[in-house]
Amino acid sequence: MKSPVNLDLGTIAYNIGEGALEIAGKHFTKFSKCFLLEDENTERYCLPVFKKALPNLKVHGIIRIQSGEVNKNIEQCIIVWEQLTKLKADRDSILINLGGGVISDIGGFVAATYKRGIHFVNIPTTLLGQIDAAIGGKTGVDFMGFKNQVGLFIDPMAVVVDPIFLKTLDDIFWQSGFAELMKYGLIMDRDLWAMLIHRNYKELDDEWNKLIMKAAKDKIDIVRFDNSEKGIRKILNFGHTIGHAIETFYLKKNDAITHGQAIAAGMICETWLSSQLSELEGSPQCEIWKLIDKNFDRLDITEENISELLHIMKQDKKIRKGKFRFSLLRRLGKAIHDVEVDDSLVIESLQFYIQKQNFS
Ligand SMILES: NC(=O)c1ccc[n+]([C@@H]2O[C@H](COP(=O)([O-])OP(=O)(O)OC[C@H]3O[C@@H](n4cnc5c(N)ncnc54)[C@H](O)[C@@H]3O)[C@@H](O)[C@H]2O)c1
Ligand SMILES: [Zn+2]
Repeated sequence: MKSPVNLDLGTIAYNIGEGALEIAGKHFTKFSKCFLLEDENTERYCLPVFKKALPNLKVHGIIRIQSGEVNKNIEQCIIVWEQLTKLKADRDSILINLGGGVISDIGGFVAATYKRGIHFVNIPTTLLGQIDAAIGGKTGVDFMGFKNQVGLFIDPMAVVVDPIFLKTLDDIFWQSGFAELMKYGLIMDRDLWAMLIHRNYKELDDEWNKLIMKAAKDKIDIVRFDNSEKGIRKILNFGHTIGHAIETFYLKKNDAITHGQAIAAGMICETWLSSQLSELEGSPQCEIWKLIDKNFDRLDITEENISELLHIMKQDKKIRKGKFRFSLLRRLGKAIHDVEVDDSLVIESLQFYIQKQNFS
């Protein structure tokens, strides 16, 4: 039986789980016009699903941009601003972001800035979007080779998470979302970790609805208490200080890897840092490295790349007064934030990644 969870948290409504899409129509009734943002893949695979579930919803205009991280840029925003203007979107219009993290990051940013801000709803269609990117109000684009360099915090009016879309998702994007799923287990949800341990993302067929509902709720729990990332929200950055540098490094080489591949590598390094710096209780590090290696191939990073990775990390938003501040693990299911880490240890953690190959 389909039984989505509905959470109404002040200005944001969340519908999560199988069946959520069918009840999403209520979010659009009070707006003068609905516009929908998609890319060529979500047009092909997700738009028909959307239309079938919401046959009575009148969409005034569909705006398509090109898929992929390489297109998460200001040029694509200009296309959307132009289309909204040509289609005469007014301030009472709403934008529906139908797609993965790239669509919700761009769509949220464009909606927040068009005519000084119109409402938007995120309908994530990738695993990563459903458990992470669509929730929490971070929006923006990459700029001058840096990830998420320009953007703002702005909440959608609603987030509709329905696994129905995921049937057509490519394997690498299942894998990518799996990295974030592991992250929630590690930083805050031991039960979730227990559901993942020894598993490979390809064998979780019947369990996805449950896993997605759990992880999406974990993210909501964090961001509702600290939306602007002043405190506890920072624990979501576990694996991301080094992971983002790795993602940017590959982006600059024009050899983009998925967000999850980068974060998986980042989590290997940052688990090592946790074991060095935060008395990782119960010594679960080998268990963690094993699960990551069971699901992700190692990246071809070499010793020669370390200085560039460090250079990229220094430009990151997570650095303060020249010192790295990491979110690290205290034990399985518990993370701490703002741990100062010297350059030398960051270098060692990358050397660990390069030298200590594969635990699976
Ligand atoms: N704002 C945040 O808090 C936040 C958090 C995490 C990640 N992100 C961002 O999210 C982005 C990554 O998101 P992503 O992994 O969803 O990637 P993505 O948006 O690039 O989507 C992955 C690919 O899948 C296609 N696709 C989407 N839905 C599909 C479906 N149902 N069936 C078939 N194909 C489909 C897309 O067209 C794309 O080619 C990154 O830019 C990252 O920085 C943002
Ligand atoms: Zn992430």
